[in-house]
Amino acid sequence: MSNTLNHWDNIYQTKDNVKLSWHQTQASISLNWILHYTNKEDAIIDIGTGVSVLGDNLIDKGYKHLSLLEISPNAIQTVKNRLKHSLEYVTFYNENILDFQSNTKFDLWHDRAVFHFLTYEKEQQAYIHKLKQHLKLGGYFLLATFALTGPKQCSELDVTRYNSDKIIQLLGVSFKLIKTTSETHSLPNGNTQDFNYFLLQKC
Ligand SMILES: C[S@@+](CC[C@H](N)C(=O)[O-])C[C@H]1O[C@@H](n2cnc3c(N)ncnc32)[C@H](O)[C@@H]1O
Repeated sequence: MSNTLNHWDNIYQTKDNVKLSWHQTQASISLNWILHYTNKEDAIIDIGTGVSVLGDNLIDKGYKHLSLLEISPNAIQTVKNRLKHSLEYVTFYNENILDFQSNTKFDLWHDRAVFHFLTYEKEQQAYIHKLKQHLKLGGYFLLATFALTGPKQCSELDVTRYNSDKIIQLLGVSFKLIKTTSETHSLPNGNTQDFNYFLLQKC
């Protein structure tokens, strides 16, 4: 097993999922933006879905073409168990995003707190290549990362923090920024973390 896989799978195996720092009872900003910018027939992928309830919420809203990608087998199994009555609406990819290959072209690519773990330019560019390859022209990239005022590490791993200028510079002319917002995420232990959300459109 790779180091990345081991690291994350061990977390999901040994820790109470609702006590994880990134845990959300509702993925409200992501859900609201997805509902506003897509329709129920659209193909949506959530990268590094973990055990997020975003997929459950989208199925409840009538979405039928969901893909959930996650490196940790334990996390994937938890979500599969939870969605056992809706499995026909979900394609699961248990793999590293940097290895992702699919014939599906997506209308929206969602990533909360995954891309920011890629701290080397080579990995960031490999991710962006996958994104461009799998997102339709006019499709949306909904990204949430730690803000410049957010933590420098999460789960003992370094992160890269972003504002709009940094993300626009990294993505280049193939994407235009539609909107952005910030969120102070409250952790189960009472601390907070500053996030930025970016909605970008492939052009
Ligand atoms: C901080 S958690 C966020 C989980 C989820 N997106 C959420 O908002 O609740 C990061 C997630 O990304 C997954 N992950 C990390 N690196 C990954 C990679 N290279 N490919 C796929 N998944 C990855 C981890 O296993 C973990 O579930």
